[in-house]
Amino acid sequence: MSKILVTGGCGYIGSHTIVDLVENGFDVISVDNNSRSNPHILDGVEKITGKKIKNYKVDLCNYDDLFAIFQENEDVIGIIHFAAYKSVGESVKKPLMYFENNLTSLINLLKCVKEFGTPYFVFSSSCTVYGNPDHVPVTESTPPRAAESAYGYTKQMGEQIINEFAKSSGTQSILLRYFNPVGAHPSCLIGEMPVGKPENLVPVITQTAIGKMAKMNVYGDDYPTRDGSCVRDYIHVCDIAHAHTLALQYLEEERNNGLCEVFNLGTGNGVTVLEAIKAFEKISGVPLNYSIDSRRPGDVIAIYANNDLARKVLGWNPQFSLDEMMATAWKWEQKLHTDEKLLKKQDPDLN
Ligand code: WQD
Repeated sequence: MSKILVTGGCGYIGSHTIVDLVENGFDVISVDNNSRSNPHILDGVEKITGKKIKNYKVDLCNYDDLFAIFQENEDVIGIIHFAAYKSVGESVKKPLMYFENNLTSLINLLKCVKEFGTPYFVFSSSCTVYGNPDHVPVTESTPPRAAESAYGYTKQMGEQIINEFAKSSGTQSILLRYFNPVGAHPSCLIGEMPVGKPENLVPVITQTAIGKMAKMNVYGDDYPTRDGSCVRDYIHVCDIAHAHTLALQYLEEERNNGLCEVFNLGTGNGVTVLEAIKAFEKISGVPLNYSIDSRRPGDVIAIYANNDLARKVLGWNPQFSLDEMMATAWKWEQKLHTDEKLLKKQDPDLN
């Protein structure tokens, strides 16, 4: 069985990708320091796949600790690199923390890849590299614009670092540009677990609907879009996950053309914030308490993907509809809420 090292395997997209990799015959280990993730998410992965996934609780910024993991797992043939700080808002307030963490961890990882001759490398990139595009949908050759945040710059720089590294090392690399990952595994055994108050739209919607948040804001309805709110390409996390499996199979079967290829992972459908809210209300039957607030600094007006390349080259075919994204996200939020109530009953001291 081909062995894959997944960094950030206890995270939202990492855990869903591990499920898909295992279901497609890969052996997987995770490296995650759990600074922004919950190790118990791997219990859910085990319940779904029947496989216990080993997580090395190590900070990728510690080169010696990371090197030791590679020494212990010389049979690893591929890396999927998710681990990074990812809050746009936080990165605007703390840019150095973002550059230090996201770039040091990537460079340490690539140094190990070179040292151990790991053949394949898949990078978690983002549509944020496009900045505010002039035209939509964006293709992989749409020129990246100035990023709107330090987070966005770490993704742009990450892509450039990997590109240069691949040319010099011969490591077969793929950059996957996610649009907006949302939803949860249909089993409801894993899903998004935001640390602290969420920033992203769908967890804000579900926490408002369940009553964890009294109300939510729509950041601007005066944009030049069909209803005045921003347009995004929401994509189910399981569709994102499966793209990683396809990318590794593409590399293993040596079908790749070149040392560093880029693929957009979006549905190709632009959805406004207000349309996303309406879709949630329709699916859940829960009217959302929201008000229109001023624009959020750093937001792009409209972006959605041209996903032809991933469809044609990787054979990727996103399965989940917007309604299913909202339904799985809502089901997961309700489960989390029940579990929290159960935990409180078992231990009333839990605040
Ligand atoms: C979507 C839309 C908000 C919250 C970022 C990164 C991307 C990826 C996902 C990591 C925007 C609006 C949001 C709220 C709102 N990062 N919104 N009220 O900013 O498009 O993408 O997160 O995986 O790389 O760039 O996602 O969900 O924060 O916002 O109106 O309470 O929802 O203004 O228009 P974003 P988001």
